[in-house]
Amino acid sequence: MQLPIRLDDVGTTRLQEAIAGQIRDLILDGRLAAGARMPASRELAADLKVSRNTVVAAYARLVAEGLIETREPLGTFVTEGVVREGPAVLPLAHGHYCSLGAQRRSLRQREDSHRVTRLHASALDFDFWVGRPDARLFPMRSWQSLLQRMLREDAHGLCEYGDPQGLLTLREAIALHVGATRGIATTAERIVITNGIQEGLNLLACVLLESDACVAVENPCYRGAANVFINHGARLLPVPVDQHGLDPAKLPGEAAVVYTTPSHQYPLGSTLSLPRRQALLAWASDTGATVVEDDYDSDFFYDGAPLPALKSLDRNDQVIYLGTFSKSLGAGLRIGYMVLPADMVAPVCHAKALLNNCQPWLEQAALAAFIAEGGYAEHLRRMRHAYAARRNHLCTALAHFLPQWQVDGRSGGMHVVAYLPQGGLRAHAMEMQAHACGVGIYGIDSGNALTLGSADHDDTLQRVILLGYAALTETEISEALLRLRQLSAESGCASAAIA
Ligand SMILES: Cc1ncc(COP(=O)(O)O)c(C=O)c1O
Repeated sequence: MQLPIRLDDVGTTRLQEAIAGQIRDLILDGRLAAGARMPASRELAADLKVSRNTVVAAYARLVAEGLIETREPLGTFVTEGVVREGPAVLPLAHGHYCSLGAQRRSLRQREDSHRVTRLHASALDFDFWVGRPDARLFPMRSWQSLLQRMLREDAHGLCEYGDPQGLLTLREAIALHVGATRGIATTAERIVITNGIQEGLNLLACVLLESDACVAVENPCYRGAANVFINHGARLLPVPVDQHGLDPAKLPGEAAVVYTTPSHQYPLGSTLSLPRRQALLAWASDTGATVVEDDYDSDFFYDGAPLPALKSLDRNDQVIYLGTFSKSLGAGLRIGYMVLPADMVAPVCHAKALLNNCQPWLEQAALAAFIAEGGYAEHLRRMRHAYAARRNHLCTALAHFLPQWQVDGRSGGMHVVAYLPQGGLRAHAMEMQAHACGVGIYGIDSGNALTLGSADHDDTLQRVILLGYAALTETEISEALLRLRQLSAESGCASAAIA
């Protein structure tokens, strides 16, 4: 197959970026169909008159973005389940419009990689997609009546621009909530409401990052965060993680910002130990670095009280705390928040106003009442109870059906990590086979995480499977694991036959 790639006007853009970019466009706008075979790297290199290494590097980038995948020994294929972007149009100045494709090209001057959302439900009977709450447990009746009440009582917020910092009643409710549940002593003045942690990260990047700034990230880390930093021109410096979380002894002195997920490391699930929390804060105080604490799923803890947030230990005002309602209520709500050091509130509000003026009023008002009147705490209790039962069931069923899978990261959150046995299928192959029989399980790359590492590190990580359990009932978990056991038995027989 000959791909319609043109390299005559790539200017200063590096060749591999130009090739990766044009293939990405072909995939995202549907001209390259899911499952289509990509030309062999040697073939494409010859067509484009570039070195094979250039094409190999472009393919590697697209693999990391989840857009294409290699299936040994068959070749390279467009990944199934990539969400395609329609022919959206964006307004330009003077009433002109440009296609999203053209807009993307102008943005792609920077080293970037797109976050690709997967299609979840479609082909899968049971989906262990990570970090998704169970929509069946959303507090629908309370939410409907709160929305109606807000509209009845005082709907003028619908017709006005709000405070870019966010609705005061919501900030007040959150200040009390994070004080009680995460040990953070703060007030509404230090809180900014965001459209989720993802927007919070973008706002921080706008305010904190000079071009070429160094950002230390856990390795592996949350891809959504890494992409933001890369898109803002930062250099990522990987810091290893182990069963106690990020290792502060390995923090690079030149990092201006450290991004971390202390409660439940994403993706490996460890909790940052207290001595390491103290060491991280001491390091930040010595170097003047800013620490970004992403506390995405700490509402869910099952074995006793969780450690308070890192921010609660922050005596020098160097930690930025990011929270979200995406896990406890739902990602479609798009409400998150930041607890900021005093000197960052004004710049972040300014950046927020530049970006989108303010958050929608109605959901903020309803959520403020939900928290203040105790409905949210009650909802969290019910979710914790349900998810604890699901986690317990999953771990017991794994021990029973797949005893050779070693389970970790189970103390909280909404997913556990399973290490596949050495010598058997690697995560990517297991993931493909599981998908083929209707069960969604995820290796590191497809589970929205990014690895920046050496071959040794990679070898262990390539045996990692992420299993999000919150959205599946116990019966669904059992049925899914039965299918995985069957698969594992078949692949075990296959390896024995090959041996
Ligand atoms: C580690 C981590 N941080 C942040 C987010 C994004 O949260 P939000 O929906 O609030 O943008 C996610 C989403 O899955 C996540 O896994």
